[in-house]
Amino acid sequence: MSTINLTIDGRAIEARQGMTVLEAALAAGIYIPNLCADPDLRPFGACRLCIVEVEGIRGLPASCTVPAGDGMVVRTDSPLLETTRRTLVSLLLADHADDCLACAKNNRCSLQTAAAYVGVRERRFPKATRVLPVDDSNPFFTYDMNKCILCGKCVRVCDEVQGVGAISFVNRGYDTKIGTLMDRPIISSLCESCGQCEAKCPVGAITAKNYQQPSRKVKTVCSYCGVGCGLLLHVRGSKVIAAEGDRESPVNRGSLCVKGRFGYEYVNHRDRLTRPLIRRDGVLQEASWDEALELVATKLAEHRGKFAALASAKCTNEDNYVLQKFTRGVMATNNVDHCARI
Ligand code: FES
Repeated sequence: MSTINLTIDGRAIEARQGMTVLEAALAAGIYIPNLCADPDLRPFGACRLCIVEVEGIRGLPASCTVPAGDGMVVRTDSPLLETTRRTLVSLLLADHADDCLACAKNNRCSLQTAAAYVGVRERRFPKATRVLPVDDSNPFFTYDMNKCILCGKCVRVCDEVQGVGAISFVNRGYDTKIGTLMDRPIISSLCESCGQCEAKCPVGAITAKNYQQPSRKVKTVCSYCGVGCGLLLHVRGSKVIAAEGDRESPVNRGSLCVKGRFGYEYVNHRDRLTRPLIRRDGVLQEASWDEALELVATKLAEHRGKFAALASAKCTNEDNYVLQKFTRGVMATNNVDHCARI
């Protein structure tokens, strides 16, 4: 891995070749406000908040689009940068709903972070008059374009990462918004409800329904299919209230499908079996584990050689290995199959 050396705010920084100035600064612990940059997406340069001064370059380039170069001298803070960023944030706020306390992204909102950092404390420009309808058609998340800052992260992740392209920028100029083909409700579009747009949205424009703050997050592996995506389950008390893709997992690097992200309610569902049931006189009745295992062992013994096992991609490799071993070694048959063999 080749490295380059540059100076940011008077500090000598070593950065990986190919990093942008923003990535080099953030990796060195230097915060530059940013709203549209994302490590999983191509540079976009929409919000302009990440502007910096670079010796030898005219104007205020967006650091998320400028490759870090050997010997570069960068300033991330100056009176001109501060004034310009304050104006940029004020313009965004002029076209943004101001019900922060009622917003699901309150305290998790990058616009709040940026406004606090650049020192915007009140509305400077008159509030825009455009009011857009809220799209509540998806069962898992809500689109409220009154809170959109047009950073394009939702559009880009849907296109660049998911390869779906269900949403895009529609209209032009002041009327620009994020929408679907023919401006149909999101549920009638190509959308697969993976929720990647919701996960990437830095503000309250796309929010999960019924969002609650977790009290802790638990690292685990998704139980739906054999891919093995890394999950961070959001837990409150002993209840799972949301699922998030684990960026540290080499399998999915933070991405999830609709089942992994939103299909967690079975964990706490009231119909879920937690005790074994034995059918007695035609009625299922609760039993102890010893009783249930004894009954299963007795019945299996009666069927040695006349048996077939169907394994599951939801099980671990080890569980599947044990099942085929049991089928061949104990049940004396090779009738074993797996739903993933195709
Ligand atoms: Fe660089 Fe938005 S983060 S322009």
